[in-house]
Amino acid sequence: MLRPNRRGGAVAASAFPSDLGGGEPLIVVRDLRRTYAVGPDRVAALAGVSVTVERGAFIAVMGPSGSGKSTFMNVLGCLDRPDGGEYRLDGEDVGHADPDSLAAVRNRKIGFVFQSFHLLPRLTARANVELPMVYGGIPRAERVRRAAAALEAVGLGDRWHHRPAQLSGGQQQRVAIARALVNRPLLLLADEPTGALDSRTTREIMELLRDLNRGGLTIVLVTHEAEVAAYAGRVLTFRDGRLAGDAPPADAAGAAVPG
Ligand SMILES: Nc1ncnc2c1ncn2[C@@H]1O[C@H](COP(=O)(O)OP(=O)(O)OP(=O)(O)O)[C@@H](O)[C@H]1O
Ligand SMILES: [Mg+2]
Repeated sequence: MLRPNRRGGAVAASAFPSDLGGGEPLIVVRDLRRTYAVGPDRVAALAGVSVTVERGAFIAVMGPSGSGKSTFMNVLGCLDRPDGGEYRLDGEDVGHADPDSLAAVRNRKIGFVFQSFHLLPRLTARANVELPMVYGGIPRAERVRRAAAALEAVGLGDRWHHRPAQLSGGQQQRVAIARALVNRPLLLLADEPTGALDSRTTREIMELLRDLNRGGLTIVLVTHEAEVAAYAGRVLTFRDGRLAGDAPPADAAGAAVPG
């Protein structure tokens, strides 16, 4: 079934359930803290972050190296637990969940994309995309069908049998995006997804993410590049484990100029 998107195009209405949720924002974070103990030192990687992300938003996370961006993404992605504050995802208190429940939330609701793709080198594109469904116990015929559809959706319908080394960087990232989407997550988290790509491929990947967002997928993406952040509707700027800015991309670019 198709329905019109904001720009008048059409996307599969059933692609993402993100806009079907209740009234509560997808992400509600209050005074989030994560402190690392390293020898005698304590590093406050997150020192009290409060933010709300609406369903269907496209958020860029920026800030200097070491400011807490990846730590924030790891907590949002239920890969890591905060040691203070609140985190509600899709109406559920995940900030205090035990590791097993966190893993379940992660598998059901979150897709990840990383700078270095994290594909398994010995598996074909299709087998890489099938992996999250293998963990999810989905029968083989259904896995193959959904993996093929996901590769088709990212423009790689003719590359199912290629291994990662037989694909370009941009194509590998498309496979990783297909893998992230194949369990139909509510939230896509991308930590510098274009960091290893040239500028033309960066644009292609960002146009793909923009189209997915227009189809209803909520995206939170870390980047050091203003041209990448420009695709987002809102830029969160981190500094020393705190939120130092929350603005549309144009304003954030102005504010990011060091004073
Ligand atoms: N596992 C860890 N153990 C100890 N300290 C850590 C750990 N992970 C991160 N840190 C520290 O927490 C702070 C935030 O790190 P984080 O990786 O979130 O930064 P970042 O903003 O993602 O930086 P970059 O732009 O370089 O990726 C840094 O000071 C870092 O040294
Ligand atoms: Mg990082």
